[in-house]
Amino acid sequence: MSPLHELAHAKINLYLHVTGRRPADGYHLLDSLAVFAGAADRLELTAGSGRGGRVTLDIRGRFAAGLGGDDRADNLIVRAGAVLRELVGADAARHLPDVAVVLHKELPVASGIGGGSADAAAALRLLLRVWKLDVPRAALMALATRLGADVPVCLDQRAARMEGIGEELTPAPILPPCGMMLVNCGESVSTPQVFRTRAPVFTPRAVLPPQWHALADMVRDLSAQTNDLQDAACALCPEITTVLSALRAAPGCRLARMSGSGATCFALFDSPAAARAAQDAVQRAGWWVWAGDLCRNGGNPAVGADSIPA
Ligand code: C5P
Repeated sequence: MSPLHELAHAKINLYLHVTGRRPADGYHLLDSLAVFAGAADRLELTAGSGRGGRVTLDIRGRFAAGLGGDDRADNLIVRAGAVLRELVGADAARHLPDVAVVLHKELPVASGIGGGSADAAAALRLLLRVWKLDVPRAALMALATRLGADVPVCLDQRAARMEGIGEELTPAPILPPCGMMLVNCGESVSTPQVFRTRAPVFTPRAVLPPQWHALADMVRDLSAQTNDLQDAACALCPEITTVLSALRAAPGCRLARMSGSGATCFALFDSPAAARAAQDAVQRAGWWVWAGDLCRNGGNPAVGADSIPA
């Protein structure tokens, strides 16, 4: 069998409000608008001749070292296999072909753009295909949530509003054409630590229109929202402030903000070409800078150009 391929696109939170906390486990309740950029990890899956549904993982690519260590058991791709085997039951799992997955890690690790979650979601899509499983959507979403709060939105890779702890998805407003730049300063930030560091205040959920006809309308509305994790992440990693200043100073930047729990920040531009034209002005030694398209409400964008200076 020839290998199956999937792209795991970067998820960007255009705003992120912490609206409360879940009493049961202290998880934070969120209201966020997530979109997907062309930037992506690549997964390649090959089925072996063995049976038992074992998933082995080989990690390559620019950011492979960030996932360090040889123990792959706690990688979300391997865990995606484990939760699917559990779902089908031990008897059925015995007949599933073993698979070898190669992850080409092109997105910075632990960086607020959902790389690990997107990889887990891509692994689920691949495993459903190769194991020929027909899992009802509600069960699949519940299983994705067990892997991580961002995994459900990454299954579809469509712009969506995320509520609950991130697993309650509704369609995003119809987005206008625009371009996007992503910048990561090379430091990873711990999501639980960012949540712990934030000021214990809550922000109401945003009021959004059904559609933004022009980028200026979207920027106006997004400017009234916040990423409630940004201040805490900047306190833990001051270089995020430098990244935001560089983005805001870039020619054509319409809005700059941190994504997720950081450290990656994004900026919106009039078009992918405008974002790419501003790339050199933003680039600093050691920064990962990507510019290109974002998935609006439909299919996935092409993988764009990124750069890291030598
Ligand atoms: O779900 P995920 O593994 O991405 O979350 C990592 C950590 O971030 C959680 O263990 C929790 O401490 C924190 N978190 C949270 N509320 C969320 C999502 C994550 O408190 N909605």
